[in-house]
Amino acid sequence: MQAPTRPSDRQAAIFISVAVGVVVAVVTTATFWWIYSLVLAPERRAAAIAAATPWSPSDGQQAITSAAPNSPTDGRQPWLGEQAWIEGVQAGQAWVEANPNTVNVQVLTGMTSGQIWTYMQQYVSGGLGVGCQYCHNLNNFASDEYPAKIAARNMLYLVSDINAQFIVDLPNWKGNYVQCATCHNNQPNNLEAFGTQFIKSIPDIPVTVDPLDENGQPILDPAQKPEEIRGQVGLQDAVLYYIYNYQVWRPFDPADPESGRGSLALTLDGGRTQDQVTINQNVMNYQSWALGVGCTYCHNSRNFVAYETNPVGLPNPEYAYNKLKAQRMMQLTTWLQANWPTYGAAPKPGVPSELEGGASRFSYRLIEGQVYNVPGCYTCHAGNAIPRAAVQNIPDGDAGVVVLPPALRGQP
Ligand code: HEC
Ligand code: HEC
Ligand code: HEC
Ligand code: HEC
Repeated sequence: MQAPTRPSDRQAAIFISVAVGVVVAVVTTATFWWIYSLVLAPERRAAAIAAATPWSPSDGQQAITSAAPNSPTDGRQPWLGEQAWIEGVQAGQAWVEANPNTVNVQVLTGMTSGQIWTYMQQYVSGGLGVGCQYCHNLNNFASDEYPAKIAARNMLYLVSDINAQFIVDLPNWKGNYVQCATCHNNQPNNLEAFGTQFIKSIPDIPVTVDPLDENGQPILDPAQKPEEIRGQVGLQDAVLYYIYNYQVWRPFDPADPESGRGSLALTLDGGRTQDQVTINQNVMNYQSWALGVGCTYCHNSRNFVAYETNPVGLPNPEYAYNKLKAQRMMQLTTWLQANWPTYGAAPKPGVPSELEGGASRFSYRLIEGQVYNVPGCYTCHAGNAIPRAAVQNIPDGDAGVVVLPPALRGQP
């Protein structure tokens, strides 16, 4: 009979070091997890919940009342802080009692003073995160003495025109309208048009942009190109060029599989350059980041050229027409840049430094020699396929008039 073998010293040493290693690993992981759940997890969870919850007017009003009072130097009264909010609302109420009929209303026609008072509180002040004093002299709500009120009136026209020209006749429209908060999201200015993921993910290498002419043929001669892209430009700026200078040269027709071609089509006779493919792919990345979706939200991965109008057997039939909607939306951002000075936002003296404004340099465009903050996909979408602060399900009657005045719906 053999005596049972004792582990050698070497085996014991290996066993002990493995055991110590396992304990250290478990303790380290647990410690990191504990710190994470203490510090980061609640923040992430709150951010995820905020991103999934639709915007509500109380978000904007809370931003006003919880802010410290400001001290304007241009003659306006403070518009931030609880006191400013209460004074504005009460002055509005006194104005409405004295003026049941509106005095100087140019866009919101057909509404009573009382309805306008409610709309202003919830969706104008609420949408921009500023009290009445930002736009009004509290002694005279009809006066147009502050430039912010003029800008706001132009923005009322803007909302009406966006809904009429780009939203309500979208193919497979899901019933969401644009309102002030869709872009402003409780902030009056320096709105971010390009999320940080875009800025971080797109390297700034030099590229040559060859846009397509109205027949879909690449323009290769620099002398024929728009000045902005005559020489080489950074890849990030090339992406922006397409978002704001997009055109469709062969409109979509469900009967024609070759149709729907625009500035970003790659499948042309003779193909496109490597730079052009790089630019196209980064525009696609930008759109994916802006909406928080993957490529197949808009494309059939076996046929990127196709417009999926009735995808069969897909888990999410809602995806029908998304590529076409995205094409319409690039026509929207192109229209926004072309018409921006008409819609009233004042030009800036220069591109604000990143620290000061909140928005990155990509949110500013040079138009007719002046710098403007112009919206991009991210301004409305902010990582959501349907913008969080779009209006859906407008109630009937008086309540609906206040939620989104009929004049802004872009529909009779
Ligand atoms: C961001 C700018 C802005 C803010 C903030 C704002 N308003 Fe207005 N308000 C306007 C504009 C623009 C009009 C004119 C609308 C038109 O011409 O159709 C207007 C019109 C009005 C009118 C109708 C005046 C008339 O001529 O008969 C009242 C009343 C009013 N606002 C009350 C308020 C109250 C109360 C608040 C705060 C709770 C407020 N507004 C906040 C921009 C603003
Ligand atoms: C398509 C996006 C979009 C929509 C919708 C929109 N705005 Fe704007 N608005 C902007 C941008 C971008 C600016 C420029 C901000 C800047 O210059 O920093 C702006 C500027 C303004 C300003 C001037 C701010 C300042 O610097 O004093 C006012 C006032 C304003 N908007 C009010 C409104 C109101 C009221 C509505 C709803 C009727 C509205 N906006 C809807 C994008 C939008
Ligand atoms: C939000 C919708 C959307 C998303 C997301 C999207 N695309 Fe696109 N894609 C489009 C649109 C719109 C066009 C423009 C077609 C044009 O200009 O002719 C396009 C064009 C293309 C083309 C050129 C097709 C042709 O006709 O030659 C390719 C390739 C492509 N996308 C790949 C991708 C990839 C890869 C991804 C994921 C990283 C992606 N797309 C994400 C909407 C989208
Ligand atoms: C002024 C705000 C605004 C801007 C800017 C904007 N969108 Fe949209 N987008 C909307 C609204 C509102 C809807 C919802 C329409 C509906 O109910 O069908 C939408 C819907 C979409 C959809 C369909 C999503 C779905 O699940 O039905 C796509 C795709 C899309 N947008 C892409 C883009 C792209 C790409 C850009 C930039 C080129 C862009 N959008 C810029 C407001 C905007």
